[in-house]
Amino acid sequence: MTGRMDEQILHSEPEVGPSTLRRIVAAWPRRATIRTDMAGFMEPAPYAEDLDDYPAHLIPFGGHPRFAEAPEAKRRLVNTLAWQAFNARVIAAEEHVANPTFEMLAHGVFPGVDRYEVKEAIQQSHIDEVWHTYMHMTAMKRTEEARGLTTEPDYSHPVTNRRLHRLSAERSEKWERDLLFLLWTVVGEVSINNFLELLARDRTIQPMHALVARLHARDEAAHGPILAEVMKDVFVHLNKEQRELFIRTLPEAIVAFGAEDYKLWPEILSFAGVGHADEIIADTRRSSDSELLLTDFSTVERLVCDLEIEDRVDYDFARR
Ligand SMILES: [Fe+2]
Ligand SMILES: [Fe+2]
Repeated sequence: MTGRMDEQILHSEPEVGPSTLRRIVAAWPRRATIRTDMAGFMEPAPYAEDLDDYPAHLIPFGGHPRFAEAPEAKRRLVNTLAWQAFNARVIAAEEHVANPTFEMLAHGVFPGVDRYEVKEAIQQSHIDEVWHTYMHMTAMKRTEEARGLTTEPDYSHPVTNRRLHRLSAERSEKWERDLLFLLWTVVGEVSINNFLELLARDRTIQPMHALVARLHARDEAAHGPILAEVMKDVFVHLNKEQRELFIRTLPEAIVAFGAEDYKLWPEILSFAGVGHADEIIADTRRSSDSELLLTDFSTVERLVCDLEIEDRVDYDFARR
């Protein structure tokens, strides 16, 4: 009897051999940021007065003459608020997009998530994401204290989430809304390291700020391949209508993830008391290629090829 059961268990195992996913899952106890390296983050070095909070070159209107003529204190405040907004954007993505999706994946909302190592990878990733929120909220609090911020603009609804919420509000079926959340999460998880890398190695900003991005990026180096694997497992189980929605909406998810937040930038400029905010923003938007903060979506392209839908996704990956 036991022999037959063992045989059944062996037969239900996926193919023999160390899969990428298994290796990623096995390394989690050593690799996860929550388990390691946190002393340097929890006791950060004091603020370096001469360094920015956020990379100046990532402020899309940084070279605009109207901005350049603003007093230094106001430009520095814009730089600080840009860093706060970056953290808020990451937190909003974790809390309102990734975590609800990881919960759905864990609860069997999507088909094809059956293998144990997949479930384990999902739990590990979910734990990581909750930790990331904590890291970024800590970073925001430290910045508030160091820069003496008493009030701030409301940056809790960043462009990526707004676009998801707008699209999901247009959908009447639950499976449609669930799939949009999965899509936003997959695009986010495979792309977020390109987003974090914008800061992770920057030496012009506070070392603690680069460190937060670097620590976060280390976890995301695992989440990207995990979500790509999960998506491959789920995709083969989707019906025609579900696949259509996925394929048709993928370009919007990409653009939403990479977009400059042009609702937020004018609010930050006004908050900081920089004059001619509308002119600065209008000119910046007119200049070429300024709609996207992030332009490298090669990881999404790879996934699209793996799903064999490259001929059907209306996004020009080579364009950028
Ligand atoms: Fe994360
Ligand atoms: Fe992640």
